[in-house]
Amino acid sequence: MKSTVTWIELAKHGDARGSLVAIENQRGIPFDIHRVYFIFDTLPGVSRGHHAHHDLTQLMICTAGHCKVTVDDGSTRTSMTLDDPCRGLLLDGLIWREMDDFSPDCVLMVLASAPYDETDYIRDYAEFQQLVKVDAQHS
Ligand code: TYD
Repeated sequence: MKSTVTWIELAKHGDARGSLVAIENQRGIPFDIHRVYFIFDTLPGVSRGHHAHHDLTQLMICTAGHCKVTVDDGSTRTSMTLDDPCRGLLLDGLIWREMDDFSPDCVLMVLASAPYDETDYIRDYAEFQQLVKVDAQHS
């Protein structure tokens, strides 16, 4: 399975009143949206995530404020600032993610390709690295 992290641009409908972004299933989003959740009121110094998924695609959109997202495919670790409600970060495949540096007003919205399932989580980094190795041998 190929693991990828890519930006997706969301069309902004702006007029004299302000801005609006609309997201529809199967329109510019490369997966069926089965869940939406958002993270907000995050306390200073908090770091969230610290996991990967066996089989889940997610699109992260910072709809207010800003935060830092660190992604890791088992060999490269990259940090990005999310601060634009018109840009989403698409995480597909075996990607370890950590979120921190949340501004007090940050609302991080996440669209997901499946309902919540704790058994889909990989919460141990060593196990994640092992799975990346096994995956590379099979591709
Ligand atoms: P958690 O996985 O710890 O969040 P994060 O990875 O962002 O640090 O989730 C916090 C709690 O919310 C935990 O009790 C599980 C629950 N939860 C759901 O019920 N549904 C969901 O879609 C998510 C992401 C979490």
